Amino acid sequence: MKIAVFASGNGSNFEAIAKSMNQGEIEGAIVLVFSDRTDAYVLERAKSLQIPVRSFSPKQFANKVEYEREILKELEAKEVELLVLAGYMRLIGPTLLNAYPNRILNIHPALLPEFPGLHGIRDAFEAGVKQTGVTVHYVDNGVDTGPILAQKRVNIEENETLASLELKIHQAEHQLYPEVVQEVIQAIKKTEN
Ligand code: GRF
Repeated sequence: MKIAVFASGNGSNFEAIAKSMNQGEIEGAIVLVFSDRTDAYVLERAKSLQIPVRSFSPKQFANKVEYEREILKELEAKEVELLVLAGYMRLIGPTLLNAYPNRILNIHPALLPEFPGLHGIRDAFEAGVKQTGVTVHYVDNGVDTGPILAQKRVNIEENETLASLELKIHQAEHQLYPEVVQEVIQAIKKTEN
């Protein structure tokens, strides 16, 4: 299964998935890392793993449709079958949603539907809940609203700090996301046979 990872920043989830693939735990290959930010650190990580990268800013395009058409060309050229969003800070529009129905995954650092949006970890911490976690879900046209595939819970201890919680959340992400990517690939393969 040919996969494209979309990311805007650090890329630790991309790297966790790439490592899991190298260990033979995922029946797929990342054929492209796409970023909307030309300076994103994820691009360095991808290059050092010899994974092709593309990056262009939406500012170079008249509108989102034009932007996503250009991305789609890259995806089609590489015969990408599954999109994995990992810290991609833009909403996916109809051009990509229609081209990849039920083939776009995202990870969110909270137990959706609780704490959607940009600051899932901080919002849970500040709300004083005892438990938060991470969610992998299909992407639809809302903000963190698509059907949930899997969640992993993380306890917030009495002496927890925001920094220690962030660490635990990222560890949970790096464990859960590769597992779910593999499950989705298996499910797709079953329907194709
Ligand atoms: C993760 O916390 C993910 O849940 C959120 O963005 C962050 C990306 O981190 N959507 P990284 O770039 O994979 O390190």
